[in-house]
Amino acid sequence: MITLYGGTSSTLLAKKVAKLLETRLGRSEIKVFDNSEVRVRVLGDLQNKTVAIIQTTSNPTNSSLMELFFTCDALKRGNAKKIVGVIPYFGYARQNIQHRPGEAVSVNLVVRFLETAGFDEVFTFDLHDEATAGVFTIPFKNLSALPLLAESIRNHLGEGKTSKEHVAIASPDQGGVERGRLFGKAFFDDEDFPLVIVEKKRDLNLIHQSKIVDMYGEVKGKTVILVDDIVTSGGTLLNAAKLCLRKGAKNVIAAIVHPDFSEKAPKRIQNSSLSAFFTTDTIDPLPSRRFKKLKVVSIAPLIAEELGRVK
Ligand code: R5P
Repeated sequence: MITLYGGTSSTLLAKKVAKLLETRLGRSEIKVFDNSEVRVRVLGDLQNKTVAIIQTTSNPTNSSLMELFFTCDALKRGNAKKIVGVIPYFGYARQNIQHRPGEAVSVNLVVRFLETAGFDEVFTFDLHDEATAGVFTIPFKNLSALPLLAESIRNHLGEGKTSKEHVAIASPDQGGVERGRLFGKAFFDDEDFPLVIVEKKRDLNLIHQSKIVDMYGEVKGKTVILVDDIVTSGGTLLNAAKLCLRKGAKNVIAAIVHPDFSEKAPKRIQNSSLSAFFTTDTIDPLPSRRFKKLKVVSIAPLIAEELGRVK
């Protein structure tokens, strides 16, 4: 049986996974000093045990990452046999290439740090760029919550309203085509459907700002499901939603894996023309990040299933 720890950024999710695995979370002490340094201590006998730590690395990204590295080090020092990192949201995944000359490729460094800390295996969900998987030299698995979201939205729409006649699947940017395909395949149980694509442009000198260039595909009279990996400011999603409605969509629903909300995003989304915002608990849905249109689907069963396979 695997020994499970929950980091401070995934407390709710880790508890759910522990319940499904019919186990208790291992005890640890995480202290943050006044100078912001973090001290990690894991308690319990780890000798020769297979251990997993669930810790998402969303805002505050840097301190969540540090806690994760230090937890791994502490587990290693306790002589754990194997250490598995479950990082539901992988911070820095969007810094995957040199978007402009002179930039760091930060996600590659995060991968190196995880390996140096001593992880034997890492799982994540819907990584921004699949190619980042190739940076790992330890076993790594990119799981997907898109089929779960597809099932929840099908149930939400109800019988008779989920056919290709009624629903269009759309990607709010050109980089999300594969994601839209994966979602649509699960939603329609068919690979053959027209994917609507919104073309987006970013001015990389400005942060959290993007604008729409064009849209390809038909949305008139349909329920549009906008599929994306992450929402931070909400700009990408809400610009695309507005355009769909302007082009005659009946209503627009969002299917977003990671609710990596900036401070103003929950209010912006609630006040927008979206009819519902479906997401997951890759980032714990704390009360301050909740709003009426938010519907959270738990990835806990997927993690429990995966950890059940770890030897
Ligand atoms: C970009 O390539 C991502 O897939 C998301 O579309 C983007 O990061 C969302 O950010 P925001 O909500 O700030 O527009």
